[in-house]
Amino acid sequence: MYFDVEPKSRREDLFDFEEEYLTLKNSILRGERIIVIKGIRRTGKTSLMKVVYNEIDVPKVFLDGRIITPRQSDILLVLFEGSINAVTDYFLDLKIKDVLKELGISFGINLRISMSTGLRSFEKLDEFLENRNKKLILFLDEVQRLKAGNISGIIAHLYEHTRNIVMVIAGSEVGLLDEIIGRYADSDLYGRPKRVIELGRLKREKSIEFLKLGFAECKKKVDMDSIEEAVDVLDGIIGWLTLFGYYSMRYGIEKSLEMVRKEGVKIVAKEIEHFLEVRKDAKNRYLRILEALAIPLRWVEVKRILESMEGREVNDKMVSKYLRELMRYGFIEKREERYVIADPMIREGVVRVARR
Ligand SMILES: Nc1ncnc2c1ncn2[C@@H]1O[C@H](COP(=O)(O)OP(=O)(O)OP(=O)(O)O)[C@@H](O)[C@H]1O
Ligand SMILES: [Mg+2]
Repeated sequence: MYFDVEPKSRREDLFDFEEEYLTLKNSILRGERIIVIKGIRRTGKTSLMKVVYNEIDVPKVFLDGRIITPRQSDILLVLFEGSINAVTDYFLDLKIKDVLKELGISFGINLRISMSTGLRSFEKLDEFLENRNKKLILFLDEVQRLKAGNISGIIAHLYEHTRNIVMVIAGSEVGLLDEIIGRYADSDLYGRPKRVIELGRLKREKSIEFLKLGFAECKKKVDMDSIEEAVDVLDGIIGWLTLFGYYSMRYGIEKSLEMVRKEGVKIVAKEIEHFLEVRKDAKNRYLRILEALAIPLRWVEVKRILESMEGREVNDKMVSKYLRELMRYGFIEKREERYVIADPMIREGVVRVARR
């Protein structure tokens, strides 16, 4: 069902994203080592991973960064335990005990591993996979939550010291994910080859088609005006469209749209506040830019707005930095040389934050 709100896990429930689906699946099967799924909130990252995870017949693990403590030793332990389980699940003739024995790891009730033994264990596991000509696929969702536990160092190490471990990673906070996967030179993953799959918004016609098919599936008649209005507000973000469809099965169309809008704005406002909180020095400048970009503006217009707010010159480099940062977090977009708030929900989120 298109309007189920849980992340999708079966191909037939996945609307569109054919190309992204094929790229992910083929990259895994080709043995590309680091595959990153990027996209702003609610664009279907977890769904895409889960569908592919369920389809591939290989040793595999799916972990959610939200439920692992962000400490290096804990991450290693969870990854390693998950990997051992994946291998024993896959090679049905093997028992955990036998696998550990083959890897030369002593078997205790408490499988505590230190950083060095943990990493060495992965190298042994890699040999084990090599001997059987198999790859192990680690799916890591919400990976930005593990930043403090040095997840990028762990991924870089596994990349360099193993050959049969493939890592598929995704995260919600686009900017943080960038820091982890190494868009910047200070990350451990900087310069390592990666496949990046970016999930975007649906085009207008696609959003309309999605709602139509979803309503047809649950046998609800909805007029075209309501569908178009919803698409105007929810702007092609599949998660919001799904939630709208879900509410519509219980409430009226108007009320459903209002509920989704409220929920979306609340989440966005929280994200903006968080963004501003860690940039206290430039908080007023960022907020002023966000307010101004309710309409599309050129770089030079943004600069002028900041200067008129402060009554003094603002450094060019800083203006570019602010815009870059806001783009990294998906709050604004650049369309034909103009910057603008990325969607109506963010515009409202800005208004709410500015009012406080
Ligand atoms: N291709 C799709 N077809 C139908 N529904 C989808 C699709 N992708 C996502 N959804 C729905 O959209 C919502 C968000 O999906 P999902 O949780 O996969 O996104 P996400 O990008 O991981 O979100 P978050 O940023 O919150 O982690 C869910 O309700 C899911 O069922
Ligand atoms: Mg998700």
